Amino acid sequence: MKSAIGIIGLGVMGASLAQNFANKKIQVSAYNHHKDKVDALVKKAKSPHLIGHDILKKFVTSLEAPRKIILMVPAGDPVDETIKKLTPLLSKGDIIIDGGNSFFRDTLRRTEELNKKSIHFVGMGISGGEKGALEGPCIMPGTSKTVWKSLRPLLEKIAAKDFSKKPCVVNVGAPGAGHYVKMVHNGIEYALMQLMAESYDLLKGLYGISNDNMATVFESFNDTRLGSYLMEISITVCQKKEGTKGLLDLILDVSGNKGTGKWTTQEALDLGIALPIITESLFARYISSEKNLRIALGKKVERKKPEDLPPLTVFLEMLESALYGAFLLAYAEGFMMLDRANTAYKFDLDFREIARIWQGGCIIRAKMLKDITKALPRNSGILLMDKKYLKDVVSSMDSLKNIAITGVLTEKPVAAYSAALNSFYSMTSTHLPSNMIQGLRDLFGAHTYQRIDKKGTFHTNWL
Ligand code: 6PG
Repeated sequence: MKSAIGIIGLGVMGASLAQNFANKKIQVSAYNHHKDKVDALVKKAKSPHLIGHDILKKFVTSLEAPRKIILMVPAGDPVDETIKKLTPLLSKGDIIIDGGNSFFRDTLRRTEELNKKSIHFVGMGISGGEKGALEGPCIMPGTSKTVWKSLRPLLEKIAAKDFSKKPCVVNVGAPGAGHYVKMVHNGIEYALMQLMAESYDLLKGLYGISNDNMATVFESFNDTRLGSYLMEISITVCQKKEGTKGLLDLILDVSGNKGTGKWTTQEALDLGIALPIITESLFARYISSEKNLRIALGKKVERKKPEDLPPLTVFLEMLESALYGAFLLAYAEGFMMLDRANTAYKFDLDFREIARIWQGGCIIRAKMLKDITKALPRNSGILLMDKKYLKDVVSSMDSLKNIAITGVLTEKPVAAYSAALNSFYSMTSTHLPSNMIQGLRDLFGAHTYQRIDKKGTFHTNWL
């Protein structure tokens, strides 16, 4: 019997995905050029539906036509190298699916190159980490209707389920859109994580909350509208012990990144749109990496002792509300980016469906995605234009302001909270001081300006 799907690359994600297919009784061929990796997976899976291969040609012939092969190899050169080795073994109409975190422009290039050989190439974002890949990830492919038709039955079986038990997979749009949507997902992921980290910092630094009590706070938040995967795993991270110590206290305060957050910001700059919360969250990671400089400067600058803090119960109430508002704004920022990209790249995105599939399996899944799904029209990503959504954000504004002020007054960095606040103020300002910028530009560089009282472009001899 031939396999319905093949997977190349048996790292953590590839191996888990292969097992997921096998567990759903879908015959899967799993390939890795290291025989020991293949053997380890076959032994672990113990499934008649999973066949291991370490010879590429045999792997390819084990697949039913048209062949569907998911690449689970690191983004960048390994994807191109694998395609190069694989293509001569394929036939017209076969489908290569890149399930890694590839940059969408690489996906567009690869789609075009393989099109010339009549081989379909699909960029497909997969979210959910190892557990998600094994038990049900959120899957974001971007491809043609025909290719989607042949992938759909397979992917729907292994995907997570949304709040209405529908599979968390959809063809998000035209080629390239899958990896684009995953990139923005990761940008939002950066923002939500930074907001969680700033909340933790305020609670620990200002109120001396222990890790165990922090877990209790996050547990209570998780029972509210803030219920989310990131809140759940924050509880676990706070609770974890190593011996008698909390593991969290032993982890170096330097956060890494694999690049998707950086691409999100770079893309926003190219599109000419603002992504303040996501970008500040990325910068917060970069600043964290300046550990030696931070230590050197920290020794020279004395921090003021926090005073006049609100009682903890009051602060917790504000924090819950501020976090809710900031989360709403982070999602709004991500969807606005998707909206602008949709116009720029003609992705043909269905915004409501994207919010729906993010309800399950992915890292940014959260209760509030139910409301977000309802708030989004299919053809627009401007969440704040929804009356109820805007009202929810506005009602959290006082808390958001107070949390940001507390951070500023106690000299604690609250970059993501402040960015959320400022971007909301800017986006809801019917008048910004940009007339001043325009006046200055025209004075020193004759860059011209437009007027509110007449049409046209103007220049003034200012001096
Ligand atoms: C997911 C994650 C996953 C991974 C990213 C981000 O959706 O499952 O986003 O893809 O966590 O690589 O990692 P960095 O924080 O290292 O950029």
